[in-house]
Amino acid sequence: MKRLAAPLLLAAALLAPDQAGSRDLDAVVGKALFRRIWTVAGASSRQSDGLGPLFNARACASCHEGAGGGQMADGAGLVLRFDDDPAYGRQLQTAAAPGHQPEGRLEVRWQAEPRRLADGTIVTLRRPVPQVGAPDAIAEPSRGSLRLAPGLAGLGMVEQALAEAGGFGLKAMHATLAQPVTEALLLDLGLSTAEHPEPWGDCTEAEPGCRKGPHGSGKGEGGVELAPGIVHSLLAYLRSLPPPAPTGPPDPDGEHLFTSLGCAACHRPELGGLRPYSDFRAHDLGPGLASDERDPAIGQRWRTTPLWGLGRRLMQGRPLLHDGRARDAQEAILWHDGAAGAASAGYAGLPEAERARLLAFLGGL
Ligand code: HEC
Ligand code: HEC
Repeated sequence: MKRLAAPLLLAAALLAPDQAGSRDLDAVVGKALFRRIWTVAGASSRQSDGLGPLFNARACASCHEGAGGGQMADGAGLVLRFDDDPAYGRQLQTAAAPGHQPEGRLEVRWQAEPRRLADGTIVTLRRPVPQVGAPDAIAEPSRGSLRLAPGLAGLGMVEQALAEAGGFGLKAMHATLAQPVTEALLLDLGLSTAEHPEPWGDCTEAEPGCRKGPHGSGKGEGGVELAPGIVHSLLAYLRSLPPPAPTGPPDPDGEHLFTSLGCAACHRPELGGLRPYSDFRAHDLGPGLASDERDPAIGQRWRTTPLWGLGRRLMQGRPLLHDGRARDAQEAILWHDGAAGAASAGYAGLPEAERARLLAFLGGL
């Protein structure tokens, strides 16, 4: 087939009667939106998007590794969430439109926590202690819990494979992929949608100036900042991302060890024809990893992280677990407690060669 020039290709895709063609086009538009640097609402401009008044980043791609492509800046993708703080709301916003104050700087101190394995090896874990940096801080926050942006590849196929509700977000609190997308627009970017129509995003009643600030031009129905087509295209893009490919060859011995330790009970190798190494459900992993929700039953529960793509994450030196406290797979395993306590203790009881075999298996996923 003769190659078409880009505008022609676009026109052809627009006119294409087949579903697949328009789905592809939607994904291309969605990819551009995912990388788009949104602009703040000016007092007069009707062309602005309505980013903010408070926000954490200007683009989805600034926080989400992989899907955005390119190298992540240090500390990018890390946010501080609250169980609805009266001053800060649901999340600490570290950036603001001109004329507004960011809620504060996010600072993390690390506490060392040594662990002793059965053979006497000492492993020093680190626990993050989040702090809101002065002088910007508007109030002493309730403790809050750190969250690191997860990889997004393959989630669209998971959505198809999951028979029941739940599965998305770090606590598996979202039933559909659309929910974390509109929540990201609200909390991370301060852009309103039909699902979250408040144009001030996460500004609380303790932040009246921010609530009254200029908003986007209301291109969406009902005056919201984003039209439904934008969310639709972002979803089409996420759904077009194939699952991460394994970095190593199949390793039956390593897989056997993984299963015999009990890891596979949560990190299900197979799910609806996919190999995600997750059941996409929340489990109680004990007090050591808990976030500070008023209900400790919620605080201790986290969604089983899909281990597909783990090999690549380790190669890129990306930190692990919901808040990035683990610097490698061994540290991640040693933090497991609660319902995963026996599996973690099983690992800590292995001789060194067996531990190395399990870690090599994980490095190939
Ligand atoms: C400031 C950083 C940041 C930005 C910007 C951001 N996200 Fe996220 N994203 C996160 C964090 C942190 C989580 C995990 C939150 C949780 O579940 O507690 C997350 C979770 C998600 C999830 C759920 C993933 C899963 O494994 O279930 C999706 C989907 C998502 N984001 C899409 C987006 C889209 C689309 C955008 C742009 C509109 C975006 N995000 C912008 C930080 C960010
Ligand atoms: C009871 C369910 C359960 C069992 C059993 C379990 N895990 Fe997990 N795993 C989880 C959950 C939940 C998380 C996410 C915890 C968090 O982010 O705080 C997780 C996270 C991880 C991570 C971090 C991945 C990343 O990219 O951040 C690794 C590695 C891991 N598990 C490996 C294992 C291994 C190896 C075993 C067996 C020794 C195991 N897990 C047993 C539920 C389980």
